[in-house]
Amino acid sequence: MSERVAGVGDVPEGTLVRFEFQGTHIAIGNVGGSFYAVDDACTHMGCPLSDRPLDGTTALCHCHGSQFDVTNGEVVNGPARRPVQTFAVEVSGDDLLVEAPASD
Ligand code: FES
Repeated sequence: MSERVAGVGDVPEGTLVRFEFQGTHIAIGNVGGSFYAVDDACTHMGCPLSDRPLDGTTALCHCHGSQFDVTNGEVVNGPARRPVQTFAVEVSGDDLLVEAPASD
């Protein structure tokens, strides 16, 4: 089940913006007009990844320099070792809908 989290215009190209989603925070990135969402907490020590520009598909954690690919959550550079959780984003008109991960 997906829910509206933001408008398309709320996430300018090349940025990663923080939003509330189901009691937590996610960061939605705009990479050339395609949208991706990740958990807004670095897997190293939990610093937010949002509200900074993207370098292509890469988000930089300002705390200790970890880098993550927002398209798949994978670590590009440590010290983080674990990928960040990703969320599916669907564009519906002017809305960005985010899908909650399936619960176990
Ligand atoms: S908390 Fe992100 S690199 Fe340390």
